[in-house]
Amino acid sequence: MNGPELRQQIFANGLRVLKRPADQQETPYVPICLSALMSDERVTFRLFVKITEGPEGHTGFIPYLEEGEVIESHWLDKLKNLGIEQLFFHSRDTEKAIAYLNNHLLVESGRAEPSFKELCILREHLGFSLRLAFKDPHLGQHAGMARASLTTLLQAMERAETPWKLLLDIMYRDYTLYNHSVNVAVLATAMGVFLKKPKKECLVLGIAGLFHDLGLIGISDQIISKKEKLTDEEWETLKKHPCLGYQCLKGKAEIPLSSLRLILEHHENAEGTGYPQGLELKRQHPLTRIIALLEAYDGLTIFRPYRPRHSPFAALKILQEERGKRGGLAFEPEMLKKFIGFLALAKEN
Ligand SMILES: [Fe+2]
Ligand SMILES: [Fe+2]
Repeated sequence: MNGPELRQQIFANGLRVLKRPADQQETPYVPICLSALMSDERVTFRLFVKITEGPEGHTGFIPYLEEGEVIESHWLDKLKNLGIEQLFFHSRDTEKAIAYLNNHLLVESGRAEPSFKELCILREHLGFSLRLAFKDPHLGQHAGMARASLTTLLQAMERAETPWKLLLDIMYRDYTLYNHSVNVAVLATAMGVFLKKPKKECLVLGIAGLFHDLGLIGISDQIISKKEKLTDEEWETLKKHPCLGYQCLKGKAEIPLSSLRLILEHHENAEGTGYPQGLELKRQHPLTRIIALLEAYDGLTIFRPYRPRHSPFAALKILQEERGKRGGLAFEPEMLKKFIGFLALAKEN
């Protein structure tokens, strides 16, 4: 089926199009949200649509737009009306997609207040840069690109009265390592701005969010995605990921030393029963509680194939009740209170 035929079929609603990932199979296709695409402009890479085929519901990707074709605005409207939020491109085109987003940003970033569209473009830019960084064994150039992308997002947050609600709206809802990392980076940067931390600290938080789970790349997917309870041995393996990430990033000029500490400490508890070091609160980095809280919150509110996502309210309740081995609170009440304040403000505006 070629692009025009497929478009016709989709618009006639005769084809089952996947509106959200039904599984976590590793594919070379990368999602891009419709809001990050420029209507009535040429697309500079091939775009695909994800469909289900056959009685087993296998997923497939069919070309939807060829490189150089113009995206007509009414096509985007029709896709949105059908509940489709994303198209896909092949991962070998990631650099082209980033260059495309850079051009799109030039058009979108002129307003006094960042729009939902601009924030979507920035989030996708961050996610695509992070993909390149995670695939690059030396991390250098692409980690620098991800850091630059995060700096642009921070500048957008500081440009005007921060649109907290829009920031929550751009969060990804489906779990992949990239989505979770970008969510935590966006939340952590926003929390830094909300708490009126200096710009440098906001960036430290954001970079730590981006790379906090980098160490998971070295751990088998069977352990990470296991639905059943982990064996003691598997649990010990999983607990190595903060150290693995720390080792991998140590000495990289793009990663501030404070972010490195946060990466190493993101599973430490407020009461000193966390891992890998079991550090007591007073020995933790002053920003560790922010990263630990936000990464736990995102872990609960993001959809996993084996369990529904928790609502923000349910997630906060779990975090409030989370108790460690000695009966103390794993999440420091003071920081939790500040985060609830942040969420309440985001709901209001
Ligand atoms: Fe982690
Ligand atoms: Fe995490």
